[in-house]
Amino acid sequence: KVLCASYHPKVIDHYENPRNVGSLDKDDKSVGTGLVGAPACGDVMKLQIKVDENGKIIDAKFKTFGCGSAIASSSYTTEWVKGKTVDEALKLKNTEIAKELSLPPVKLHCSMLAEDAIKAALSDYRIKQKKDEA
Ligand code: FES
Ligand code: FES
Repeated sequence: KVLCASYHPKVIDHYENPRNVGSLDKDDKSVGTGLVGAPACGDVMKLQIKVDENGKIIDAKFKTFGCGSAIASSSYTTEWVKGKTVDEALKLKNTEIAKELSLPPVKLHCSMLAEDAIKAALSDYRIKQKKDEA
């Protein structure tokens, strides 16, 4: 990795005190799991959501093997999605994460990882619900 950027205090805060680190049971049908990697740097992020019967996200957890910005982006994303509906959560854009954390341009892909991870988790959850109906 090259170009270590200087970090905004919000990034440091999420890095030092990450919110919602951990795992949910991936076999639980109310849980969606997204596991994604960033080709640019090899960092990996797992993000999980738990959804109640009304389609509301009641819990979110992450594990990130990556840089400080990736950890901060996943921490912020788990905070943000809690209380949102599945449809609302689909609208989260990496540019919003990057803006909130004041990420510099070289760190944009780190927030992209969080957007990819939440989308993957939401889609995993939806596939599970469809399987259930079938
Ligand atoms: Fe320096 Fe990620 S760019 S640790
Ligand atoms: Fe790749 Fe941050 S340097 S996710």
